Amino acid sequence: CGITGYIGVNESASILSTGLKNLEYRGYDSAGIALVGEQLTVRKQEGTIDGLTIPSETDATHGIGHTRWSTHGEPTDENAHPHTDCSGDVAVVHNGIISNYTELKAELDGHIFESETDTEVIPHLIEEEIAAGADLRAATMRVLDRLEGSFAIAATHVDHEGIVAARQDSPLVIGHGDDGMYLGSDVTAFVEYTRRVSYLEDGDVAHLSADGISVFNDGECVEREIQTVDWDASAAGKAGHDHYMHKEIHEQPNALRQAISGRIDELTGNASLDIDLDERYLQAVDEIHIVACGTSYHAGLYAKELLEPLVDLTVRVDLASEYEVYDGFDSRRTLVVAVTQSGETADTLSAIRRAKAPGMTTLAVTNTVGSTITREVDDSLFIKAGPEIGVAATKTFVSQVTALALFTIYLGRLRGTISAGDGADILENIRRLPNAVQSILDAEPNIKRLAKQYVDSDAFFFIGRGLAYPVALESALKLKEISYAHAEGFAAGELKHGPLALVTKNTPVLAFLSESASPDETFNNVKEVESRGAPVIGLSTSDGTESFCKHTIDIPSLGRLEPLVANVALQLFAYHVANEMGRPIDKPRNLAKSVTVE
Ligand code: G6P
Repeated sequence: CGITGYIGVNESASILSTGLKNLEYRGYDSAGIALVGEQLTVRKQEGTIDGLTIPSETDATHGIGHTRWSTHGEPTDENAHPHTDCSGDVAVVHNGIISNYTELKAELDGHIFESETDTEVIPHLIEEEIAAGADLRAATMRVLDRLEGSFAIAATHVDHEGIVAARQDSPLVIGHGDDGMYLGSDVTAFVEYTRRVSYLEDGDVAHLSADGISVFNDGECVEREIQTVDWDASAAGKAGHDHYMHKEIHEQPNALRQAISGRIDELTGNASLDIDLDERYLQAVDEIHIVACGTSYHAGLYAKELLEPLVDLTVRVDLASEYEVYDGFDSRRTLVVAVTQSGETADTLSAIRRAKAPGMTTLAVTNTVGSTITREVDDSLFIKAGPEIGVAATKTFVSQVTALALFTIYLGRLRGTISAGDGADILENIRRLPNAVQSILDAEPNIKRLAKQYVDSDAFFFIGRGLAYPVALESALKLKEISYAHAEGFAAGELKHGPLALVTKNTPVLAFLSESASPDETFNNVKEVESRGAPVIGLSTSDGTESFCKHTIDIPSLGRLEPLVANVALQLFAYHVANEMGRPIDKPRNLAKSVTVE
């Protein structure tokens, strides 16, 4: 879900509406705003922000807004935020979960509830406190003391000054503008208006007024440092593309240049990364646990294939929601790496907290400076991909793997497992990566033609070995997320142990056949599916695959990074299949970009 807020000298409706549009990638089941002027005006409904009628001329100079990804209660008009109290004076938006809301609801005798949400208890509790004489800030603080769970909230009252916002495990960022104060779940909410931001910390309660902000934690008034973010507003627009996803696919050469810039040290064959983990500790580490979800998990699997053979340590990759810390390994010699684009995924944050309990050192690989994870881990490695709005991750996946490849070199050089010459060779491929990706983007018309040809298939299978196996999984995820087609990725050798039963002449198989991904063995699997009539699209670095595959997409030679480049071809394939089907590519049904609940 996404929260936005504004208080200042300008009319607030259009600012909130921009904020909601910018945050829509966090959820789009329903949307709503509360405008505070002479009276409280609430507009909310199921569906995206486009369907919401926002009053154009109001006297409201402050208000709050919300775009929802449902957890408690279906996406309906009633369950949309903001929620109000019985009097209709208090409005609250909320992200996260109030775990004790049933108990709280039972205590609110005589209150009438209109939704099935956990959120609705909050305005009613605030109403009671205000009726007992508290102002909005004091009332909200008292209510916060009674809430259990993880949440971010913002509250307003028609007769009380300001917006009161609070953070407990769920992100909230304050924007400090010349014309007022802004509130957002992340910086994109208000990046058009100000880039001066401060991040609330857990337990913070902020009182925003037109000319400033006071922040309290545990009863004390605290200062939160103001920083300037370097994302500009134009980076968040579509720049002439039909979809954010298409724009972000095409931004990859530049995103990669940013990820690499200043990090390649050719003379020493080393990567210079801006991380401060103790070098002696990194030399002594004998196990890495990578925790992540979704696409970031696939980046973690790719990293394992890079790290294990090159750095002489054991790498375990866990879905963050499945990560458990058992006895039996030395927590002082285990590094836990969380890979997360947003830095806000609740499953990943919770895995990191489990890792920290026995004292393991933690590193985040993330795109989001100031995100929650960066404040919980020992150190962060930023992937520098710039804002990604399309729900399906593209440029952040490629940048994550690249940052992890640089990390592999850094660790290998530090531990003496990668020579200067080998380091320089891998770095050379990393340096060539942006142009290699560009060559795939240039082949878009061919990939689009293939997508059109196969759009009506019953299912799509992706097969690969070694480094290409995570990419097979990622390519299948991309296609299913945005087209809703049945798509699955398999380890090529595993096909014959079951999935082959699904293969027919109407199930194209996309096979990774690049030099670095055991092409000879995969050819055998290609023959297995071809002899069952399936059309094969081969992604290959060498000539001569035509005799095996119905179609070939050429991939430039790039050593261990070839499957990563091949992935870009399949991002385009997924995009054009979904576009051909007329799917809402940037906002697939039931999904959200940043999932802040477990
Ligand atoms: C959500 C998104 C996925 C994403 C996953 C992890 O489920 O829909 O696209 O891969 O979260 O996100 P993170 O921000 O932790 O990388």
